[in-house]
Amino acid sequence: MSPTSRFDIQLAQPRLSDEERAVRMQNLGFGKVLSEHMVVVPYQEGEGWLKGSLKPYAPLCISPAANVLHYGQAIFEGFKAYRQADGGIKSFRPKANGRRFNESAARLAMPEIPLDIFIEAADLLCTTDMAWVPGTLDAARLHDQSYYFRPFMIGLGDFLGVKAAEEYLFLMIGGPAGAYFQGGIKPVTIWVEEEYVRAAPGGTGRAKCAGNYAASLLPGKLAKQRGCDQALYLDATHHKYLEELGGMNVFLILQEGNRTVITTPEKTGTILEGVTRDSLITVARELGYDVEERRISIDEVEQAHRTGSLKEAFACGTAAVISPIGTLMSRRGTWVINDNKVGEISTRLRAALLDIQYGLAPDTRNWMHTIR
Ligand SMILES: Cc1ncc(COP(=O)(O)O)c(C=O)c1O
Repeated sequence: MSPTSRFDIQLAQPRLSDEERAVRMQNLGFGKVLSEHMVVVPYQEGEGWLKGSLKPYAPLCISPAANVLHYGQAIFEGFKAYRQADGGIKSFRPKANGRRFNESAARLAMPEIPLDIFIEAADLLCTTDMAWVPGTLDAARLHDQSYYFRPFMIGLGDFLGVKAAEEYLFLMIGGPAGAYFQGGIKPVTIWVEEEYVRAAPGGTGRAKCAGNYAASLLPGKLAKQRGCDQALYLDATHHKYLEELGGMNVFLILQEGNRTVITTPEKTGTILEGVTRDSLITVARELGYDVEERRISIDEVEQAHRTGSLKEAFACGTAAVISPIGTLMSRRGTWVINDNKVGEISTRLRAALLDIQYGLAPDTRNWMHTIR
């Protein structure tokens, strides 16, 4: 089916002028500026996914009894499109995000959406709002700019019983994203959270559902009050093994004898299986590094810091790609990593992945999806 037959098209009238858009795009941070359209696809039990529409970005009108407002049937995703050297636009691994979206949907008893609708929705939104995809390759790459897609799904209905909704809305909004680090990449300080947990075995940790993020807001706020940027969670059973940050996966670079090992917590079902995590593991192995996915205890990190074998640490995710960790703080003390400087391997991996995303290195794994 072509996008035009799958979606009704209702364009914003009038569109913003080039001057107005340029003003809004002046100080791009993350998620502050949204482009002019959105995609909406309704779902009705018994009928399935109905014809979607592309329409002007506007508030939604839903019942006050909608499931999402009381019982939190809400999932989302995040991925990006990048300006290429030839002026074209490509998104990074949208299928991986679509598949993870459907895994989240299944965990929350929501309907799965066909991957081709998920991807066409993004392509349609991005081509309609193409003027919002930052600049030329030089400018975009220099300023780490991109277009960020936010697909999400909510449970509707007009009924207060605790059960899965029978009606849903799939939506896609998006907008230009600027550098995650204003003024250049710099290491962050992370609070190791030993009291609050993010996810327990059998829970929803592996799903990208709204409730996980609501639960992370208080520990995130407490981390900030302690002078840290974010919290790093430990496992819920032993309060001992590293899991991930509120919105990023975590990696350590350890020196084991004469081996340098890029190490990350294994997939336990309680962490979000990041697309960036997976991509960095692949890229690191291609660059010849040893990579291990395994359990890492906080005691091991403390010891590695003490003995000097903890060489670098970083968090990773779609928004920042790699965010170097310069300091870990906890009740046990403050551990400065690599003199609080951006490490060599973190820098190399970050550049290698960004080069693929901006089309400056060959896309040997077919990760890039052509939008135009
Ligand atoms: C809890 C959590 N972990 C990890 C990630 C990194 O995932 P990705 O690399 O797919 O952006 C995210 C971001 O989406 C996240 O919210």
